[in-house]
Amino acid sequence: MLHIILLDSALELMPREISHLKQIQQHASRRGKKSSEILLDQTYHGQSMTKLAQSEHRGRPDITFLSLLTILETPLCKEGLLGVHLHLQDGQVVSVQNDVRLPRNYDRFVGLIEQLLLKKQVPPQGKPLLSITQESLQDLILRLTAGSDKAMTLLAIEGGKQTTIDDFRSLLPQDSSIPVIVGIGAFPHGTLSEEIVSLFDTHLELDREVMMAWHVCAEIIWTYSARVKAIENRYM
Ligand SMILES: C[S@@+](CC[C@H](N)C(=O)[O-])C[C@H]1O[C@@H](n2cnc3c(N)ncnc32)[C@H](O)[C@@H]1O
Repeated sequence: MLHIILLDSALELMPREISHLKQIQQHASRRGKKSSEILLDQTYHGQSMTKLAQSEHRGRPDITFLSLLTILETPLCKEGLLGVHLHLQDGQVVSVQNDVRLPRNYDRFVGLIEQLLLKKQVPPQGKPLLSITQESLQDLILRLTAGSDKAMTLLAIEGGKQTTIDDFRSLLPQDSSIPVIVGIGAFPHGTLSEEIVSLFDTHLELDREVMMAWHVCAEIIWTYSARVKAIENRYM
């Protein structure tokens, strides 16, 4: 089974340091919400964000949105061979049910994530489609790899081992019962901490230039699908 973890996802509620600023207050009131209840988004809050530490790393919910649209509802996902997890910049881990149908509209996605961060799960009652777990990133990786000595942990990262699609395919197990955990950054600029990088055994560079996170997700998901014959098996 393939598990994709979107790392350092740039999803957070408005930080207190800038929630009082005019640009933020005006945007929140246009949306009929309190400023503390809206997601930080560079598109609307770029000027105010210059006051935040590591601002270039934060405030890009669209990266997670496009990555999730790319990986959910694929044949691999429908076969139950895909696990999806979000790691947030404050260290929290979000579990995403693989039968979730995300809104196709970005504004509706933002509303969903705001609800998740405020209520800890969506929908707030009943079976959660997205929920904030009590696990750390390390706990999550340990749980996903437990009980399999063949489990693989791969990190897509610029500066990793230069890897073509063919190299990547032959690295993957053909047996879909072996867990393959892949970490992909879901932030705009900057780098992952050494602590996060060290949780993954193999570091792969998939192109000589920086790729969009959702293109990396697509390459990984379709290469893995071909390796475990996920689509062939659906025609049998
Ligand atoms: C947009 S990049 C992250 C920020 C990047 N350092 C920058 O300055 O724009 C998003 C993620 O995609 C993956 N990625 C981007 N380019 C890659 C490449 N050439 N090979 C492997 N992974 C890549 C990495 O996981 C990275 O964290």
